Amino acid sequence: MSAPNEVTPVLSWGPLRLGLGGNRLAGPDSFGPPRDGNESRKVVHLACDSGVAVIDTADCYGPYWSERIIGEALSRRDSRPLVATKVGVVRDASAGWAVDARPEGLARAAEGSLRRLKLEAVDVLQLHHPSTRIPLEAQVGALQDIRRRGLARHIGLCNVTLEQLQRAEREGPIASVQNHLHALRITPDDLRLVAYCKDRGITVMAYQPFAEGALLAEPRIVRAAEHKGVPAAQVALGVLLDLGDHVVPIPGSGSTRHVRANVDAVSDHLGLAGRVSRPASTDGENL
Ligand SMILES: NC(=O)c1ccc[n+]([C@@H]2O[C@H](COP(=O)([O-])OP(=O)(O)OC[C@H]3O[C@@H](n4cnc5c(N)ncnc54)[C@H](OP(=O)(O)O)[C@@H]3O)[C@@H](O)[C@H]2O)c1
Repeated sequence: MSAPNEVTPVLSWGPLRLGLGGNRLAGPDSFGPPRDGNESRKVVHLACDSGVAVIDTADCYGPYWSERIIGEALSRRDSRPLVATKVGVVRDASAGWAVDARPEGLARAAEGSLRRLKLEAVDVLQLHHPSTRIPLEAQVGALQDIRRRGLARHIGLCNVTLEQLQRAEREGPIASVQNHLHALRITPDDLRLVAYCKDRGITVMAYQPFAEGALLAEPRIVRAAEHKGVPAAQVALGVLLDLGDHVVPIPGSGSTRHVRANVDAVSDHLGLAGRVSRPASTDGENL
């Protein structure tokens, strides 16, 4: 039962407050097919078997490769975590990134994501990055229209300020915010946004929690890890987990070894050791 003033979160998951970031399931720099598609599929299965809260992807990771691999793996499973994807950013031929959040394009992109993910409705459809060329209300309104058509259960936003989130909420319910947060990069504005989200039952997905891997070799993190006798990943993820029960770090990985390490780090930090399932083996296609 909830405590008297506790807000029920819009999204719910099991005990493991960890997501899988899906950009590393595609090729290097999230461009092209993965070097080892079998390992990418194993990563998805391992994440599911370990009880992660959410698998996060985007149509532009690959482009399309990450969603294809996730869709293919999930279609062979009876149960799965929440699936979140993003639309509104495109890639050019030289692997560059560009915001394109024109409303008609968002609808087409969402339909493509569903085909690749092999889902009738995605759990969370996120605006990847607000465009400065189009009113935010039009971008969020387009996503809410997609939700009303039944193609998404919830709408999320990425890379937004508190003011943008509040404007977006006038167009319809927002279930999640996905912003860049890591242990050495949490500003007072971030804390205000995180606190606001908690009060509203909005999940915060902390993206690039390892600063693309660099944080794990950062002297302050390494020293703290040595001091506590835990892996650097546990220090980095622990700082984010301690921000609140509604905060879910989503480290990216294309490696089963690293996914296992991140599951162990979060389980240990949250005192879940022994409570989350540990798949016996990660060999073979049919994990
Ligand atoms: N909304 C947005 O605008 C936005 C932007 C960027 C990213 N994101 C999301 O955030 C996710 C994570 O971002 P990211 O992958 O760029 O950065 P990250 O999570 O900070 O770092 C990923 C890097 O850390 C390595 N790694 C992961 N676990 C490790 C471990 N236990 N030990 C050692 N190395 C480890 C990965 O290598 P391996 O692959 O070898 O494991 C990879 O090189 C993305 O997948 C995406 O879902 C969202």
